[in-house]
Amino acid sequence: MTNIQTLPGLIDCHVHFREPGFEHKGTMVSESASARSGGVMSVCEMPNTNPPTTTCVALKDKVARSAQIRDTDIRFFFGMTSDEHLEEFLALWKEAAYESLQSRCAGVKVYLDHSTGNQKIDVAVIKDVFRICAAMNVPLVAHCEDPLVNARDPRRPPESEERSVHDAITMARMYGTHLHIAHLSTEQGLRLVQQAKKDGLTVTCEAAPHHLFLSMEDEEILGAFGKMNPPLRTLDHQEALWGGILDGTIDCIATDHAPHTVEEKKSDHPPSGVPGVETMLPLLLTVVNGKWPHPLRKIRNPEFKIRNIERLCFENPNKIFGLEKKKDEWQVKVDLDQEWVIHGKDLHSKCGWTPFEGWGVQGKIIEVSKNSL
Ligand code: DOR
Ligand code: ZN
Repeated sequence: MTNIQTLPGLIDCHVHFREPGFEHKGTMVSESASARSGGVMSVCEMPNTNPPTTTCVALKDKVARSAQIRDTDIRFFFGMTSDEHLEEFLALWKEAAYESLQSRCAGVKVYLDHSTGNQKIDVAVIKDVFRICAAMNVPLVAHCEDPLVNARDPRRPPESEERSVHDAITMARMYGTHLHIAHLSTEQGLRLVQQAKKDGLTVTCEAAPHHLFLSMEDEEILGAFGKMNPPLRTLDHQEALWGGILDGTIDCIATDHAPHTVEEKKSDHPPSGVPGVETMLPLLLTVVNGKWPHPLRKIRNPEFKIRNIERLCFENPNKIFGLEKKKDEWQVKVDLDQEWVIHGKDLHSKCGWTPFEGWGVQGKIIEVSKNSL
């Protein structure tokens, strides 16, 4: 039997492609091949590379490197950790010579605590970043974890996200910034975003597949392969996130695709982050089929339709980050009836593993084609 449906080329507004500086983990070539195999044709890439994307020169270098990538539209976030980066960003947004570079920049990204890549923002510049992003009308993506809570509790508990989301929304309210909260993982964070939206603020957010499908219960089996920031939460948080997807509080599903090598993950100090750009669509299609892909745990199946995928993985990120992608540029044909098993070795990311190893999914991408416009 076949049940063919067509989707636009998806947009993943949160990926780490690792180039330049960490090409042993992934390159623009390898990770965009992984994205395409997952029906993702546009991505917004994070600044925690080496050098980090915190200067116009670094952004220019990334844009030049991406010219060799034909079929994936890679946009870049501009990172900010200190004063000089603010100056660089102002130049990027104001100087006519940077116009074409500016068009490849999806917005600004800040880390409110350290994560992979040590990009924590200097507290002295946080308010200026919120103010300037508002003035320039640029979306500000925030990785919300509180450094004080995390210093006290290395498990990075839900209160850490709650506190940080609260502070970020307070600043967005103060300056009128378009704040986009990255990888929301807790019920408390979700409620704060819900309230901010009710208050009429321009606050948006995303959730990652690993927080939607995995929980702390998987940590024992996954070990370091289930380690990421923010970390996996309880099933109650997971259920709350699905509620947020269905009621529209969560605007986007974005993978936080963050490849690290198997050796790094097996080391004494494993880095945080998991790949996900290639497995997002099949996992979501499985839910559309009324099935839950986790092999051990079944939660009440959300009323999730193919239309939701289009909204969360195309329309909303397209609008939030002003990407101006045409819905009919790419056609992703999926067979909703085909069942298959996810294996890291079959995926295209350079890292060669997945936290969803061995999961049975239903829904396969059978063709990705470009429309002649
Ligand atoms: O788990 C994570 N991995 N969280 C981040 O904030 C960064 C990412 C990475 O770059 O590996
Ligand atoms: Zn990330």
